Amino acid sequence: MSRKQKSPEGNGKNGVVPAIRTFNLTKVYEGARASQDVRALTDLNLEVQPGEIYGYLGPNGSGKTTTIKMILGLIFPTSGHVEVFGDGDIGSARVKKRIGYLPEGAYYPDFLRGEEILKYYGRLYGLGGKELDRRVSAVMDQVGISHARKRLLRSYSKGMRQRIGLAQALISDPDILILDEPTTGLDPIARKEIRDILAGLRDAGKTLLISSHELLEVELICDRVGILFEGVLQRQGTLAELLETRDLQVEVDGWKPELAGQLPPKGITLEDAVGGRARLRMPSGTGAEAAVALCRELKLNVASIMPRRETLEELFVRVVKSAKEESLAAAAPAGEDTR
Ligand SMILES: Nc1ncnc2c1ncn2[C@@H]1O[C@H](COP(=O)(O)OP(=O)(O)OP(=O)(O)O)[C@@H](O)[C@H]1O
Ligand SMILES: [Mg+2]
Repeated sequence: MSRKQKSPEGNGKNGVVPAIRTFNLTKVYEGARASQDVRALTDLNLEVQPGEIYGYLGPNGSGKTTTIKMILGLIFPTSGHVEVFGDGDIGSARVKKRIGYLPEGAYYPDFLRGEEILKYYGRLYGLGGKELDRRVSAVMDQVGISHARKRLLRSYSKGMRQRIGLAQALISDPDILILDEPTTGLDPIARKEIRDILAGLRDAGKTLLISSHELLEVELICDRVGILFEGVLQRQGTLAELLETRDLQVEVDGWKPELAGQLPPKGITLEDAVGGRARLRMPSGTGAEAAVALCRELKLNVASIMPRRETLEELFVRVVKSAKEESLAAAAPAGEDTR
């Protein structure tokens, strides 16, 4: 099938056409010699559903920006293709109008005023006159920098520059926003403000693809995530699907220090104890009833039981570590024991 055609079976799960879908997307940056080629991405099948925030994660150099540039049609795949709402003509003005893009470390000339930058980008999308003025006001309001409309960018703080970048990505009122590291270098309050803006955009029906190293942010805001390592997508799914329930945290009353010796044979660890109140940890797979029974054997009263879910950071480290080990084992000379 040609890249220019619409996919006849372009539907993803539940018959919904994905906002972004890549088909075995592969990129090799060619060096002067074949030995200098860089394989940045291999057979990527990414699916971003309409109206969701997708967190695109991976260590430095794993291929996130390369993917984004191919979705935007800024660089061409070595093989595979991309569809945006089922449309494979990535280079067309029709598709480009539907996507807003905040590049990694976006830089805008210091000697321009906030509104001048937005007008410049608006004109690139064919906007002009009153309509352009309206859009500039609307996006400045949306990202909370209307007060700095006429100020030179030189006087903008880092957080304000990030907001003008976001406003630039929004100027054409796109359906999809692709943000390459939108909160890098921002203080916690600015990060929260940007996060609220992004959540508001999702609630207004936009689709967001966000590449980020800020895993706490991603965990707070993303509906689904994909984890990339050395150009290969290792995991993709909702946080509920991907994060394992680790263990149970059980708070008990009636604690006595001499009980500490009786815990290890039962697979329980003591986290903390203050007076008669203690916090215990029981391994994953222990049901609530079993936890209560174990406590009863120890003559402890259960005050609360809470399953502890793995954090996104723990998942990320686990996935990347195991991918790294597999990659090292595959690279080891045949016959060598890589255990
Ligand atoms: N223009 C290029 N020419 C050659 N190699 C490139 C080029 N751009 C990227 N690469 C290589 O492709 C791989 C993926 O890079 P990419 O920038 O996509 O990673 P990334 O996941 O965005 O990393 P980061 O988190 O550091 O932004 C890296 O090995 C990088 O060195
Ligand atoms: Mg990058």
